[in-house]
Amino acid sequence: MKKLFIIANWKSNKTEHESIKWIQEFPISSRSAGQFPNNKEIIICPSFVYLPLLKSYILDHNLPIKLGTQNISKFDEGAYTGEINGKQIKDFADYVIIGHSERRQNFSESEETINKKIEQAKKYRLTPILCVQNPDFRISQKIEIIAYEPVFAIGTNYPDTPENASLVSAEIKKNSLSNHVVYGGSVTSKNVKEFTQKSNIDGVLVGNASLDPLEFFEIIKNA
Ligand code: 13P
Repeated sequence: MKKLFIIANWKSNKTEHESIKWIQEFPISSRSAGQFPNNKEIIICPSFVYLPLLKSYILDHNLPIKLGTQNISKFDEGAYTGEINGKQIKDFADYVIIGHSERRQNFSESEETINKKIEQAKKYRLTPILCVQNPDFRISQKIEIIAYEPVFAIGTNYPDTPENASLVSAEIKKNSLSNHVVYGGSVTSKNVKEFTQKSNIDGVLVGNASLDPLEFFEIIKNA
């Protein structure tokens, strides 16, 4: 059975109250309950400020959930006001989303910046989830997880076709030495299986539909 990464990207959403409510309502049971086959890796990427809260809850309830962040500083620790660096992230999370199109567009992130962020993630043994829009990106390093996220499909309710997503994923694997390619863009519990059943697609990166704990649970179940 292939490994599937089911990743929630909450983006800049949820207050402290809403974050704790989400995790309380998420109907997953403890690690020992064997609710899902352990080929499904569940990763939640909340805002930085709620990582301590969610980490405590996950540990206290022994939940089979990993945490990730939506960004990382391109710099190591030091005099970089406002930045959150890899060493700090490692206290709370195992994964980090890098190069999301919303960051490339709104924060002018360049390939050079993205490469530096990948280096920082690797330095602190965080697994980068690198977002790309097509197979023609230039990253010199081996990346564990690449997310194919075409801009036209993000937040639009118009996902790419599973056939095209699968072709692009195959191309990415060929060009990048990456073992795992996930698809992102308007994924829901209704369409998730069409993507994950493709042999080249190793999971999904979910925005809007992950904000509802019951819908995200259905996505995991149906994947
Ligand atoms: P949506 O699932 O809201 O389309 O967002 C996808 C995304 O950008 C995940 O990173």
